[in-house]
Parts: sequence; C-alpha cells; structure tokens
Amino acid sequence: MKVLFIGDVVGSPGRHMLKEYLKKLKTKYRPDVTVVNGENAAAGKGITEKVYHEIKEAGADIVTLGNHTWDKKEIFDFIEDKDDMIRPANFPRSNPGRGITYKKVGGNTLAVISLQGRTFMPPIDCPFERADELVEEAAANTRFIFVDFHAEATSEKQAMGWYLDGRASVVVGTHTHVQTADNRVLPEGTGFITDAGMTGPYDGILGVEKEAVLHKFTTNLPTRFEVTKGREQLNGVFVSLNKQTGHAESIKRIMINEDQPFFD
Ligand SMILES: [Fe+2]
Repeated sequence: MKVLFIGDVVGSPGRHMLKEYLKKLKTKYRPDVTVVNGENAAAGKGITEKVYHEIKEAGADIVTLGNHTWDKKEIFDFIEDKDDMIRPANFPRSNPGRGITYKKVGGNTLAVISLQGRTFMPPIDCPFERADELVEEAAANTRFIFVDFHAEATSEKQAMGWYLDGRASVVVGTHTHVQTADNRVLPEGTGFITDAGMTGPYDGILGVEKEAVLHKFTTNLPTRFEVTKGREQLNGVFVSLNKQTGHAESIKRIMINEDQPFFD
C-alpha cells in the first residue's frame, strides 16, 4: 500500500499547485491512496464545497481538515454528505462530520484519521485518548492506518508519533506549514514526520503576506492576514507500507518550489 500525502493547501496558490503537480506526482509515485489536507484551502481559512470539489478533481481521494474546519459557514451544509472528508476526531462528539474514514483500494483498505493537538491551540478533547479509540476501531478493519495530526507544538506531534508507534502505519504532522527534515520510520514501524509542510505561496510567511506579518510583529497592532501571491510551492510525503504488516517501509519528503524543481 502506497500513500501520497499533500500538506496544508493554502488558498488559490495552493489549489493551483495541486492542479499543476498532483497528477504528475501520482504518475511518478503511483500511490494507492492520495490524502490532501485542505483546511486552509479556501482563502487560507477553512473549505467550501466548490473548493472541496476542486481538490477532489485535482486527484485527492481523502481530504483532511484542522483548526479552521468551521471557518466557512457553508461547511455545515455539506460536511455530513462527504464521507471522504474528515475533521479532527477529538472535537466535541456532538460536532457534525466525522474524524475517521476508510478508502478501499484493490483488496485493501486504508483507514484515515484526523486528530488535533491541544498545546497552544483551542482546548478540545484529548487527542491521545481519541487516538486509542480510533486506532482500535481502525485495526478491527485494516492494518493500514494513516493519521494526520494537526498540531502546533513539535513536541506534541513527536509524542503522538511515539505514542502510536507500531499501532498506526503513519503519523504525519500538519498545521505549522514548514516541512521538517525528521521523516523516519520509528522502531516499531510507524512512518513519521513532525510536519509535512504546506502547499501554497513560497515567499510569504506560512502562506500569509509577509508585510502583514511583519506589521503584526513590529507594531503588535491588529492586522488582517491575506494569502500572498507570487511564487508557489508544494510539500508532502510519500509512504510505502508493508503489505503483510501494515508497517511503514519508507517515508519520503516531497518538496517542489523554484529552488527545488519537480523531476518526473
Ligand atoms: Fe491549521
């Protein structure tokens, strides 16, 4: 089982990069399942139904979300209908939508779980406790289990990697938008990276206009953040899972930008 994951798609630059490169990446890596984090896909915050369809048409099988899940009000009109789009499972249990989904491919199934961290983030249910429940549920159906852990603190993301080592096939960190170089297979077989990085503007600050972020840092005054234009990038990971065990055999970083062009 091979899984391609694309990190946080930010606004129209991110969607443009998806359209430009996702099919090429799929031709190159031949993934069985492609997972895309779309939580910043609509103007940097949240997702609309139109944007969801754009991401799907670009080649995503599963769309994961995060802390901006509810930012676009229309999400409430379509989240229940999309069983291939998941929001963090440790949001309050009464919330609409789902935090786990399954993608059947050939004779196999990939379980995809979304969780969100609590360190430097809004208080929600314990992601570790919820991970226990959902990994157990997923393991009853399949040995291929993919976790998108959307969190701010590198320590919390690493903690989740170690916590699920040997129980999940992959734990990929998202949200901080900067790809980390610590991709590895942990000793018990979980493929891990602290953050897959983001897909969107290349010259902004985490996808936002650098002038606005600088204004905020230098004046501490309220500042409106917009997705920046200009050069673009795509970040993600490609994971190969062992057919028999479901454990990761390799986890490779993908980074496409003007300084590191795509080669097929
Ligand atoms: Fe986020």
